[in-house]
Amino acid sequence: MRICRAQREDLPPWLDLAAEVESLFGPMVEDPVFRRALSRNISRGTAYCIREGEGSAGSRLLAGLLLSPRPPVYRIGWLVVAKSHRRSGLGTALVEHVVREIPSPAELVVITFGPGVRGGEPARQFYARTGFTPAENVEPGPSGTPRQAFRRRIEGEADVAQPLAVCARDESLAGRQASRS
Ligand SMILES: CC(C)(COP(=O)(O)OP(=O)(O)OC[C@H]1O[C@@H](n2cnc3c(N)ncnc32)[C@H](O)[C@@H]1OP(=O)(O)O)[C@@H](O)C(=O)NCCC(=O)NCCS
Repeated sequence: MRICRAQREDLPPWLDLAAEVESLFGPMVEDPVFRRALSRNISRGTAYCIREGEGSAGSRLLAGLLLSPRPPVYRIGWLVVAKSHRRSGLGTALVEHVVREIPSPAELVVITFGPGVRGGEPARQFYARTGFTPAENVEPGPSGTPRQAFRRRIEGEADVAQPLAVCARDESLAGRQASRS
């Protein structure tokens, strides 16, 4: 499995991935604000993705993550794994990849669903499992959805080899999948 920085060609498949979660997040595919944010992340190298079959840019996307860097605070602005590939470690692999790239000490923050939001429990369980601590409640989303910050401290050395790489192989998933089969 390879984690790559998305390129221009990944924009249409990224929108296909976004379409899968519009019922959860609200409209994105036709939203110019989302499209601009996505383009900006791709241009500055903070849109990370996993392509099906380790394909080239423009292949179907299995997962994507957008990262907003405001050192020493980094925010996950968007994280989605394709429905067909959930619970196989892709979300964890993306988070751990960005954790390795972030220079420490730092904090990684995500604003996610508050407790009791329909469809929000997987994300809450996921962040708790990947080392985040539930923190303050934040202003509800546009449709009044309760939201909560989850925070994770990053200590220790960043992997200095990673930031230069366009794509990096994640071997941990291979082990995880092998142990499941
Ligand atoms: C949240 C999301 C990104 C998780 O991605 P994923 O690749 O399925 O997560 P992983 O396979 O790495 O899961 C790691 C751990 O998180 C927890 N977890 C993940 N999904 C879960 C679920 N549906 N229910 C309960 N726990 C869950 C589990 O502890 C899991 O470990 P396990 O499978 O060994 O039990 C994915 O469900 C998703 O895209 N959801 C829709 C979009 C969304 O909510 N994004 C986050 C909003 S900020």
